[in-house]
Amino acid sequence: KPNLRQLGADKRLAIGSAFSTNELNPDDESLFRHELSRITPENELKMTAIRPTRETFDFARADAIADFARRGGLEMRGHALIWNNDRQPGWLATLSEAEMRSAIEEHIERTMGRYEGRIEVWDVINEPVGTVAFGDYMLRDGPFVQRLGPDYIALAFRAARAVAPAAKLVLNETHTERDDRFGRNYRRRLLYIIDRLQDTGVPLDGIGLQGHLQPDKPFDPHGFGAFLDEIARRKLFIEITELDVNDASFPDDIAARDQAVAATYRRFLRTALANPAVRSLSFWQLGDGASWYFAQSVDENPLGQRRPRPLLYDADMRPKLAFDAVADEL
Ligand code: XIL
Repeated sequence: KPNLRQLGADKRLAIGSAFSTNELNPDDESLFRHELSRITPENELKMTAIRPTRETFDFARADAIADFARRGGLEMRGHALIWNNDRQPGWLATLSEAEMRSAIEEHIERTMGRYEGRIEVWDVINEPVGTVAFGDYMLRDGPFVQRLGPDYIALAFRAARAVAPAAKLVLNETHTERDDRFGRNYRRRLLYIIDRLQDTGVPLDGIGLQGHLQPDKPFDPHGFGAFLDEIARRKLFIEITELDVNDASFPDDIAARDQAVAATYRRFLRTALANPAVRSLSFWQLGDGASWYFAQSVDENPLGQRRPRPLLYDADMRPKLAFDAVADEL
Protein backbone atom coordinates (compact mmCIF):
# COMPACT_ATOMS: atom_id res chain seq x y z
CA LYS A 1 0.00 0.00 0.00
CA PRO A 2 1.19 3.56 -0.70
CA ASN A 3 1.46 5.77 2.35
CA LEU A 4 -0.83 8.76 2.58
CA ARG A 5 1.84 11.08 3.94
CA GLN A 6 3.95 10.64 0.82
CA LEU A 7 0.97 10.90 -1.54
CA GLY A 8 -0.05 14.09 0.23
CA ALA A 9 3.47 15.53 0.21
CA ASP A 10 3.58 15.21 -3.57
CA LYS A 11 0.60 17.57 -3.68
CA ARG A 12 1.79 19.81 -0.83
CA LEU A 13 -0.95 18.51 1.42
CA ALA A 14 -0.33 17.75 5.07
CA ILE A 15 -2.13 14.52 6.02
CA GLY A 16 -3.37 14.08 9.56
CA SER A 17 -5.72 12.39 11.96
CA ALA A 18 -7.25 12.92 15.33
CA PHE A 19 -5.40 11.00 18.00
CA SER A 20 -6.15 10.52 21.67
CA THR A 21 -4.40 9.41 24.80
CA ASN A 22 -6.33 6.10 24.65
CA GLU A 23 -4.19 5.18 21.66
CA LEU A 24 -0.77 5.62 23.12
CA ASN A 25 0.34 2.08 22.30
CA PRO A 26 3.25 1.03 20.09
CA ASP A 27 1.16 -0.46 17.25
CA ASP A 28 -0.95 2.60 16.74
CA GLU A 29 2.05 4.86 17.15
CA SER A 30 3.89 3.24 14.27
CA LEU A 31 0.83 3.27 12.01
CA PHE A 32 0.20 6.96 12.69
CA ARG A 33 3.85 7.72 12.01
CA HIS A 34 3.87 5.72 8.82
CA GLU A 35 0.73 7.27 7.31
CA LEU A 36 0.65 10.82 8.63
CA SER A 37 2.51 14.08 8.88
CA ARG A 38 0.36 15.59 11.65
CA ILE A 39 -2.07 14.74 14.42
CA THR A 40 -4.87 16.55 16.22
CA PRO A 41 -5.58 15.78 19.88
CA GLU A 42 -9.18 14.57 19.80
CA ASN A 43 -10.20 16.05 23.16
CA GLU A 44 -7.05 16.69 25.20
CA LEU A 45 -6.57 20.38 24.36
CA LYS A 46 -10.19 21.37 24.83
CA MET A 47 -11.26 23.52 27.76
CA THR A 48 -13.32 20.59 29.03
CA ALA A 49 -10.07 18.65 29.42
CA ILE A 50 -7.65 21.28 30.70
CA ARG A 51 -9.91 23.65 32.67
CA PRO A 52 -11.91 21.62 35.20
CA THR A 53 -12.06 24.72 37.40
CA ARG A 54 -11.44 28.40 36.85
CA GLU A 55 -8.14 28.21 38.73
CA THR A 56 -6.85 24.98 37.22
CA PHE A 57 -4.86 24.24 34.08
CA ASP A 58 -4.23 20.52 33.64
CA PHE A 59 -2.03 19.89 30.63
CA ALA A 60 -1.01 16.31 31.47
CA ARG A 61 -2.92 14.56 28.69
CA ALA A 62 -2.21 17.23 26.08
CA ASP A 63 1.48 16.99 26.98
CA ALA A 64 1.37 13.23 26.45
CA ILE A 65 0.09 13.79 22.91
CA ALA A 66 2.68 16.49 22.30
CA ASP A 67 5.43 14.08 23.41
CA PHE A 68 4.10 11.40 21.09
CA ALA A 69 4.06 13.90 18.23
CA ARG A 70 7.64 14.91 18.94
CA ARG A 71 8.85 11.30 19.16
CA GLY A 72 7.18 10.49 15.85
CA GLY A 73 8.25 13.61 14.00
CA LEU A 74 4.59 14.58 13.59
CA GLU A 75 3.24 18.09 13.57
CA MET A 76 0.48 18.75 16.13
CA ARG A 77 -2.63 20.85 15.41
CA GLY A 78 -4.02 23.01 18.18
CA HIS A 79 -7.66 22.00 18.63
CA ALA A 80 -9.43 24.00 19.97
CA LEU A 81 -9.04 27.14 22.07
CA ILE A 82 -12.56 28.55 22.29
CA TRP A 83 -15.61 26.41 21.51
CA ASN A 84 -18.87 28.13 22.24
CA ASN A 85 -21.38 25.37 22.86
CA ASP A 86 -23.47 24.01 25.67
CA ARG A 87 -20.90 21.46 26.82
CA GLN A 88 -18.29 23.83 28.20
CA PRO A 89 -17.04 23.85 31.82
CA GLY A 90 -19.83 25.02 34.12
CA TRP A 91 -17.75 27.71 35.84
CA LEU A 92 -17.75 29.80 32.64
CA ALA A 93 -21.45 30.54 33.04
CA THR A 94 -20.82 32.21 36.42
CA LEU A 95 -18.49 34.90 35.02
CA SER A 96 -19.33 38.58 34.52
CA GLU A 97 -18.67 40.22 31.17
CA ALA A 98 -15.28 41.60 32.25
CA GLU A 99 -14.31 38.29 33.82
CA MET A 100 -15.28 36.46 30.64
CA ARG A 101 -13.00 38.67 28.57
CA SER A 102 -10.06 38.05 30.82
CA ALA A 103 -10.87 34.33 31.07
CA ILE A 104 -10.64 34.05 27.27
CA GLU A 105 -7.39 36.00 27.20
CA GLU A 106 -5.85 34.06 30.05
CA HIS A 107 -6.87 30.72 28.55
CA ILE A 108 -5.35 31.58 25.19
CA GLU A 109 -2.19 33.01 26.73
CA ARG A 110 -1.49 30.01 28.92
CA THR A 111 -2.44 27.35 26.38
CA MET A 112 -0.75 28.81 23.31
CA GLY A 113 2.20 29.89 25.42
CA ARG A 114 2.79 26.37 26.71
CA TYR A 115 3.03 24.89 23.21
CA GLU A 116 4.97 27.71 21.61
CA GLY A 117 7.32 26.27 19.00
CA ARG A 118 5.45 22.95 19.10
CA ILE A 119 2.04 23.87 17.65
CA GLU A 120 1.96 26.09 14.61
CA VAL A 121 -1.71 25.96 13.56
CA TRP A 122 -4.53 26.67 16.02
CA ASP A 123 -8.29 26.38 15.84
CA VAL A 124 -8.82 29.60 17.77
CA ILE A 125 -12.58 29.41 17.39
CA ASN A 126 -14.49 26.18 16.87
CA GLU A 127 -18.02 25.98 15.42
CA PRO A 128 -19.25 29.58 15.83
CA VAL A 129 -22.16 29.23 13.40
CA GLY A 130 -25.58 28.23 14.68
CA THR A 131 -29.23 29.09 14.79
CA VAL A 132 -29.43 31.95 17.30
CA ALA A 133 -29.64 35.49 15.90
CA PHE A 134 -27.32 38.17 17.30
CA GLY A 135 -27.97 41.16 15.05
CA ASP A 136 -27.09 39.89 11.59
CA TYR A 137 -25.00 37.03 12.93
CA MET A 138 -26.39 33.51 13.26
CA LEU A 139 -24.41 31.80 16.00
CA ARG A 140 -24.27 28.70 18.12
CA ASP A 141 -25.38 29.25 21.70
CA GLY A 142 -23.04 28.88 24.64
CA PRO A 143 -21.44 30.72 27.55
CA PHE A 144 -19.15 32.99 25.51
CA VAL A 145 -21.77 34.38 23.16
CA GLN A 146 -24.24 34.76 25.99
CA ARG A 147 -21.90 37.06 27.89
CA LEU A 148 -20.11 38.85 25.03
CA GLY A 149 -22.26 38.46 21.92
CA PRO A 150 -20.42 37.96 18.59
CA ASP A 151 -17.42 39.94 19.96
CA TYR A 152 -16.07 36.83 21.63
CA ILE A 153 -14.78 35.74 18.23
CA ALA A 154 -12.69 38.83 17.47
CA LEU A 155 -11.48 38.97 21.06
CA ALA A 156 -10.10 35.44 20.82
CA PHE A 157 -8.32 36.01 17.50
CA ARG A 158 -6.73 39.23 18.73
CA ALA A 159 -5.57 37.55 21.92
CA ALA A 160 -4.11 34.67 19.92
CA ARG A 161 -2.16 36.97 17.62
CA ALA A 162 -0.79 38.89 20.59
CA VAL A 163 0.52 35.69 22.19
CA ALA A 164 1.87 34.02 19.05
CA PRO A 165 2.57 36.43 16.18
CA ALA A 166 3.83 33.63 13.91
CA ALA A 167 1.08 31.07 14.58
CA LYS A 168 -1.54 30.30 11.93
CA LEU A 169 -4.95 31.24 13.29
CA VAL A 170 -7.91 29.21 12.08
CA LEU A 171 -11.67 29.36 12.44
CA ASN A 172 -12.99 25.77 12.28
CA GLU A 173 -16.60 25.05 11.25
CA THR A 174 -18.93 22.11 10.71
CA HIS A 175 -21.91 21.36 8.42
CA THR A 176 -20.60 23.30 5.42
CA GLU A 177 -20.46 20.19 3.24
CA ARG A 178 -24.17 19.69 2.95
CA ASP A 179 -26.20 21.54 0.37
CA ASP A 180 -26.72 25.02 1.75
CA ARG A 181 -30.26 25.19 0.43
CA PHE A 182 -31.31 22.23 2.54
CA GLY A 183 -29.08 22.94 5.53
CA ARG A 184 -29.16 26.00 7.65
CA ASN A 185 -27.13 28.31 5.44
CA TYR A 186 -23.96 27.42 7.27
CA ARG A 187 -21.86 28.54 4.34
CA ARG A 188 -23.39 31.98 4.13
CA ARG A 189 -23.42 32.39 7.89
CA LEU A 190 -19.74 31.52 8.04
CA LEU A 191 -18.82 33.88 5.19
CA TYR A 192 -20.69 36.64 7.02
CA ILE A 193 -18.50 36.12 10.11
CA ILE A 194 -15.33 36.04 7.99
CA ASP A 195 -16.27 39.28 6.26
CA ARG A 196 -16.93 41.11 9.52
CA LEU A 197 -13.59 39.91 10.93
CA GLN A 198 -11.72 40.99 7.82
CA ASP A 199 -13.56 44.34 7.65
CA THR A 200 -12.36 45.16 11.14
CA GLY A 201 -8.78 43.96 10.68
CA VAL A 202 -9.04 40.94 12.97
CA PRO A 203 -6.17 38.49 12.38
CA LEU A 204 -7.38 35.32 10.64
CA ASP A 205 -5.22 33.06 8.48
CA GLY A 206 -7.32 30.09 7.54
CA ILE A 207 -10.63 28.27 7.65
CA GLY A 208 -11.02 24.72 8.90
CA LEU A 209 -13.86 22.73 7.38
CA GLN A 210 -14.54 19.68 9.50
CA GLY A 211 -15.96 17.31 6.92
CA HIS A 212 -18.11 15.05 9.06
CA LEU A 213 -19.93 13.84 5.95
CA GLN A 214 -23.58 12.96 6.43
CA PRO A 215 -24.69 11.12 3.30
CA ASP A 216 -28.35 11.39 4.30
CA LYS A 217 -27.97 15.17 3.90
CA PRO A 218 -27.31 16.12 0.27
CA PHE A 219 -23.74 17.05 -0.74
CA ASP A 220 -23.63 19.40 -3.72
CA PRO A 221 -20.19 19.32 -5.33
CA HIS A 222 -20.86 22.43 -7.37
CA GLY A 223 -22.07 24.55 -4.45
CA PHE A 224 -19.30 23.28 -2.19
CA GLY A 225 -16.68 24.05 -4.83
CA ALA A 226 -18.03 27.58 -5.19
CA PHE A 227 -17.92 27.97 -1.40
CA LEU A 228 -14.24 26.95 -1.34
CA ASP A 229 -13.61 29.57 -4.03
CA GLU A 230 -15.29 32.20 -1.84
CA ILE A 231 -12.92 31.39 1.02
CA ALA A 232 -9.85 31.35 -1.23
CA ARG A 233 -10.86 34.71 -2.71
CA ARG A 234 -10.61 36.14 0.79
CA LYS A 235 -6.93 35.13 0.85
CA LEU A 236 -7.41 32.44 3.48
CA PHE A 237 -6.04 28.93 3.36
CA ILE A 238 -8.38 25.98 3.88
CA GLU A 239 -7.84 22.86 5.95
CA ILE A 240 -10.14 19.84 5.93
CA THR A 241 -9.88 19.10 9.62
CA GLU A 242 -12.12 16.21 10.74
CA LEU A 243 -13.06 14.06 7.77
CA ASP A 244 -15.18 10.95 8.35
CA VAL A 245 -18.36 9.40 6.95
CA ASN A 246 -21.40 8.95 9.15
CA ASP A 247 -22.60 5.65 7.70
CA ALA A 248 -25.66 5.19 9.93
CA SER A 249 -27.98 5.25 6.91
CA PHE A 250 -25.93 2.72 4.89
CA PRO A 251 -26.79 -0.99 4.41
CA ASP A 252 -25.98 -3.51 7.17
CA ASP A 253 -24.08 -5.69 4.73
CA ILE A 254 -20.43 -4.93 5.34
CA ALA A 255 -19.25 -5.09 1.71
CA ALA A 256 -22.04 -2.79 0.54
CA ARG A 257 -21.44 -0.46 3.47
CA ASP A 258 -17.71 -0.23 2.80
CA GLN A 259 -18.35 0.52 -0.85
CA ALA A 260 -20.77 3.30 0.00
CA VAL A 261 -18.33 4.83 2.50
CA ALA A 262 -15.50 4.71 -0.05
CA ALA A 263 -17.68 6.33 -2.71
CA THR A 264 -18.62 9.10 -0.26
CA TYR A 265 -14.95 9.90 0.41
CA ARG A 266 -14.19 9.87 -3.30
CA ARG A 267 -16.94 12.29 -4.21
CA PHE A 268 -16.05 14.74 -1.47
CA LEU A 269 -12.30 14.67 -2.09
CA ARG A 270 -12.67 15.15 -5.81
CA THR A 271 -14.22 18.54 -5.13
CA ALA A 272 -12.24 19.52 -2.04
CA LEU A 273 -8.78 18.71 -3.41
CA ALA A 274 -9.44 20.52 -6.67
CA ASN A 275 -9.02 23.85 -4.88
CA PRO A 276 -5.37 24.88 -4.40
CA ALA A 277 -6.22 26.80 -1.21
CA VAL A 278 -6.78 23.43 0.51
CA ARG A 279 -3.47 22.65 2.19
CA SER A 280 -4.24 19.80 4.54
CA LEU A 281 -6.50 16.84 5.05
CA SER A 282 -7.12 15.31 8.47
CA PHE A 283 -9.35 12.39 9.38
CA TRP A 284 -11.25 12.14 12.62
CA GLN A 285 -9.29 9.05 13.67
CA LEU A 286 -7.90 6.31 11.42
CA GLY A 287 -9.57 3.12 12.68
CA ASP A 288 -13.30 2.44 13.06
CA GLY A 289 -12.90 1.30 16.68
CA ALA A 290 -11.71 4.78 17.70
CA SER A 291 -14.43 6.70 15.83
CA TRP A 292 -16.68 8.96 17.88
CA TYR A 293 -19.62 7.36 16.03
CA PHE A 294 -18.48 4.01 17.37
CA ALA A 295 -18.50 5.33 20.93
CA GLN A 296 -21.96 6.82 20.39
CA SER A 297 -23.32 3.61 18.89
CA VAL A 298 -22.09 1.54 21.81
CA ASP A 299 -23.99 3.82 24.17
CA GLU A 300 -27.14 3.62 22.10
CA ASN A 301 -26.81 -0.01 21.13
CA PRO A 302 -24.86 -2.10 23.61
CA LEU A 303 -25.38 -5.26 21.55
CA GLY A 304 -23.28 -3.70 18.86
CA GLN A 305 -25.23 -4.58 15.72
CA ARG A 306 -24.64 -2.23 12.82
CA ARG A 307 -21.30 -1.07 14.11
CA PRO A 308 -20.25 2.03 12.21
CA ARG A 309 -17.41 1.74 9.65
CA PRO A 310 -16.74 5.45 8.99
CA LEU A 311 -12.93 5.49 8.64
CA LEU A 312 -10.05 4.23 6.50
CA TYR A 313 -9.18 1.21 8.65
CA ASP A 314 -11.43 -1.30 10.36
CA ALA A 315 -11.41 -1.83 14.12
CA ASP A 316 -8.46 -4.23 13.75
CA MET A 317 -6.57 -1.58 11.79
CA ARG A 318 -6.84 -3.36 8.46
CA PRO A 319 -7.16 -0.90 5.55
CA LYS A 320 -10.59 -0.86 3.86
CA LEU A 321 -11.88 0.27 0.47
CA ALA A 322 -12.06 3.78 1.90
CA PHE A 323 -8.27 3.79 2.21
CA ASP A 324 -7.88 2.92 -1.46
CA ALA A 325 -10.41 5.56 -2.45
CA VAL A 326 -8.52 8.25 -0.52
CA ALA A 327 -5.14 7.10 -1.85
CA ASP A 328 -6.56 7.26 -5.39
CA GLU A 329 -7.87 10.77 -4.94
CA LEU A 330 -4.58 12.07 -3.49
C1 XIL B 1 -15.68 15.10 19.52
C2 XIL B 1 -14.85 13.92 20.02
O1 XIL B 1 -14.57 13.09 18.93
C3 XIL B 1 -15.62 13.17 21.08
O2 XIL B 1 -14.78 12.19 21.67
C4 XIL B 1 -16.11 14.14 22.16
O3 XIL B 1 -16.92 13.46 23.06
C5 XIL B 1 -16.86 15.31 21.57
O4 XIL B 1 -16.07 15.94 20.59
N1 XIL B 1 -16.47 18.71 16.03
C6 XIL B 1 -15.26 18.99 16.65
C7 XIL B 1 -14.60 17.92 17.45
O5 XIL B 1 -14.70 20.06 16.47
O6 XIL B 1 -13.85 18.43 18.52
C8 XIL B 1 -15.61 16.91 17.95
O7 XIL B 1 -14.90 15.86 18.62
C9 XIL B 1 -16.44 16.39 16.81
C10 XIL B 1 -17.22 17.50 16.18
